[in-house]
Amino acid sequence: MKVLVTGGAGYIGSHACLELLRAGHEVVGFDNLSNSSEKAISRVRELSGKPLRFERLDLLDKQGLGRLMKEGFDAVMHFAGLKAVGESVEKPDLYRRNNVEGSANLLAAMKAADCRNLVFSSSCTVYGAVQKNPVTESHPRAAVNPYGETKLAVEDMCFELARVEKGWRIALLRYFNPVGADASGCIGEDPKGMPNNLMPFVMQTAVGRRDKVRVWGNDYPTPDGTGVRDYIHVTDLALGHLAALGRLDRFDGALAVNLGAGRGYSVLEVIRAASKAAGKDIPYEIRPRRPGDAAAIWADPSFAKKSIGWGATRGLDEMCADHCRWQTQNPEGFAS
Ligand code: UD1
Repeated sequence: MKVLVTGGAGYIGSHACLELLRAGHEVVGFDNLSNSSEKAISRVRELSGKPLRFERLDLLDKQGLGRLMKEGFDAVMHFAGLKAVGESVEKPDLYRRNNVEGSANLLAAMKAADCRNLVFSSSCTVYGAVQKNPVTESHPRAAVNPYGETKLAVEDMCFELARVEKGWRIALLRYFNPVGADASGCIGEDPKGMPNNLMPFVMQTAVGRRDKVRVWGNDYPTPDGTGVRDYIHVTDLALGHLAALGRLDRFDGALAVNLGAGRGYSVLEVIRAASKAAGKDIPYEIRPRRPGDAAAIWADPSFAKKSIGWGATRGLDEMCADHCRWQTQNPEGFAS
């Protein structure tokens, strides 16, 4: 297939480009490079040994988007978007414009070019305050911050579009906590500034960029008191997108699918596994809870198996080993 990848230089987008190329698809990627590096694209070219066309383009550039879509694509994978929860609280309009308006522009350009196959990066954040684990796709949805609101809004836009117009086939993939890196260690997550997420913080501590990990709370009702999440290897996640792409022809409208491993690990379990991967103890200290955090959330991944024939195969040790390889080979990320 000929696939257009939005946000192709980002963490998950670059891994998806790589797996698409490895599987023999033709890929065109674009990104506005606001939170990513074009180096990721050159590394994907080197790793795959295949051509990968890349353009610097913003989803808010309707003309540019229209021109590109008109080239003709079989499907679009849509990763481009802002994803920092804290920043979304400070700048909700920026998030609405980029994530919601940007996605609306993309859907309009797809329609104009008569391409109606879409795989969209949604998030388990759409489940809001989780009532029951494991979380199934029928769990009620709620937004607990502006970032979550944008994911809900794009999901709703897709559901509505598919309801009123025939021919759309849309997979709304709800990611749990993506971590890890391609096994080569050549591409990976490269957050700008201080990482908000656990694994990048842990690995930056392992390579000496940070003093110690701050564990946000050890008084949760979980086995060791620290927060429990469903971590998923980014390569498994990328392969989940390929699985969805391969099954889109069986879709009738828009369908939401959880992409999680289906089991939870605590913050302390992650730090222990990361220490093993790094071959040294990673220092940490217990701090008060982070406002807005849930105690535990993990996915019921059974619908993914049924609907797109996909399941995660890489465990926590592999996630940590691969993430550690990336961080060690590229201590300063793509600026190394
Ligand atoms: C966060 C976002 C979520 C977003 C996801 C993807 C919040 C509240 N949630 O999920 O909406 O979709 O990232 O980017 O921001 N932790 C520490 N120390 C740290 C960092 C994290 O102890 O320095 C703990 C957290 O309390 C949590 C776990 O590690 O228990 C995972 O945190 P994180 O990686 O930030 O992911 P989420 O909070 O699950």
